[in-house]
Amino acid sequence: MSNYYGLMEKIQSKKAKVGVIGLGYVGLPLAVELANSGYSVYGIDVDKAKVAQLKKGSSYIIDVNEEELNKAQQANNFIPTTDFSAIKQLDCVSICVPTPLTKSQEPDMSYIQSAVEQIKKYLHEDLLIVLESTTYPGTTEELIEVELLKMGYKAGENYFLCFSPERVDPGNKNYNTKNTPKVLGGTTKFCTELGVLLYSNFIDKVIPVSSPKVAEMSKLLENTFRSINIAFINEMAMLCDRLNIDIWETIEAANTKPFGFMKFTPGPGIGGHCIPLDPMYLAWKAKSSNFYSRFIELAQEINKTMPDYVYNKVSYALNKHQKSIMGSKILILGMAYKPNIDDLRESPGLDIYNLLEENGASLSYHDPHAQTFKDRTGEVINSVELEYENLTDFDCVVVITNHAFYDYEKILSYSKLIVDTRNVFEDNSNLKVHKIGYSHPLSEEIVNQG
Ligand SMILES: NC(=O)c1ccc[n+]([C@@H]2O[C@H](COP(=O)([O-])OP(=O)(O)OC[C@H]3O[C@@H](n4cnc5c(N)ncnc54)[C@H](O)[C@@H]3O)[C@@H](O)[C@H]2O)c1
Repeated sequence: MSNYYGLMEKIQSKKAKVGVIGLGYVGLPLAVELANSGYSVYGIDVDKAKVAQLKKGSSYIIDVNEEELNKAQQANNFIPTTDFSAIKQLDCVSICVPTPLTKSQEPDMSYIQSAVEQIKKYLHEDLLIVLESTTYPGTTEELIEVELLKMGYKAGENYFLCFSPERVDPGNKNYNTKNTPKVLGGTTKFCTELGVLLYSNFIDKVIPVSSPKVAEMSKLLENTFRSINIAFINEMAMLCDRLNIDIWETIEAANTKPFGFMKFTPGPGIGGHCIPLDPMYLAWKAKSSNFYSRFIELAQEINKTMPDYVYNKVSYALNKHQKSIMGSKILILGMAYKPNIDDLRESPGLDIYNLLEENGASLSYHDPHAQTFKDRTGEVINSVELEYENLTDFDCVVVITNHAFYDYEKILSYSKLIVDTRNVFEDNSNLKVHKIGYSHPLSEEIVNQG
């Protein structure tokens, strides 16, 4: 039996040295929170540019302000590095590396495997390892416990192993790493106890569960729940559009029920590193046990059709003005997958851009947070300057992301034609606004209005 009590004392007294592997949207806020709670933290990332930027005290993550980062660094509590040998001195290490999908939509475990290879090189007794990357149930056991056992290390005896999913919601002003309750499951009772102790020292509420598998599954349940409910409301939006009923007003009416209804809103599709990907991890794992989740597949299918639906809406709106997509000057406002953040990963705005471009639109985009992206041909596209007065130059303005940055009154007054995917223009009386989830019964008259 290892020195469980020694490690417990180190964690409790904050003398434990903690490592965070992967300093992205999840790892960097975690590392800074740990450091500012008093732990010495090594932030380990393979990206030299990110580490160099952090060493200069500059943050690239919207939720980590430089004041917090500098506070952590000035107290010598946060050391960013690309050198994995730092693991030799660590007492605890959390893994926050990406878990994308391969081209064939299967889990890409290479990032976790590579982080585990590095841990194996510098593994020592009494290390507490916590995997945080979202992944299929069984990963902690298959890719860490079994691997380390081959080296003679037994979880709960020579070292400690847990899974604790990250729930951070980038850009959320109310919930952050500290005040979002955290689920944690260890391989043994001792592992769970040490994991709970570490996280309780800087996170308000930690919820222990009986195993890493339950913790892994709980994260996938949460995100699959979101994916399915978003798909449902997206389908209802397309249905209401067909029936000339306003989905937005309908949702508000349904939402007055104080029980049994949870509000989800339609949009141009799903994006980010979580909702489009995580359910596929679960579906993949289920298939290996000969179980096919129809809900997961259907939700993916519906959510993936939303960019086509938005494209058709733009085409319909232009048609009402006797114009086609081909040759029309179109401006997209907002390219990030959700408001007030810069994350373009899997953003449906990219699909809508590509569809419009493929079909001959003369396209521009503006996003105050996401300044460039690569289109389907690999060309780098830059966000244009936004002058509200110049919106009259465009045949159509398409609101993809409802960033708080925008002055929607000005957009409404200067644009000739608008496609609104977020219901920023609630008033249905203005016939130049075409919303998803609603088709104005009087839209036939638009042509006559000019
Ligand atoms: N972004 C979110 O909102 C969110 C929320 C909850 C959970 N998650 C999950 O957290 C995990 C990380 O996501 P993210 O959004 O922070 O990703 P990210 O791409 O923002 O950051 C990952 C970081 O890991 C680094 N990295 C890659 N391979 C590495 C390696 N072998 N060793 C060290 N560093 C390595 C990258 O350079 C990058 O800085 C994923 O599993 C994701 O599903 C993400």
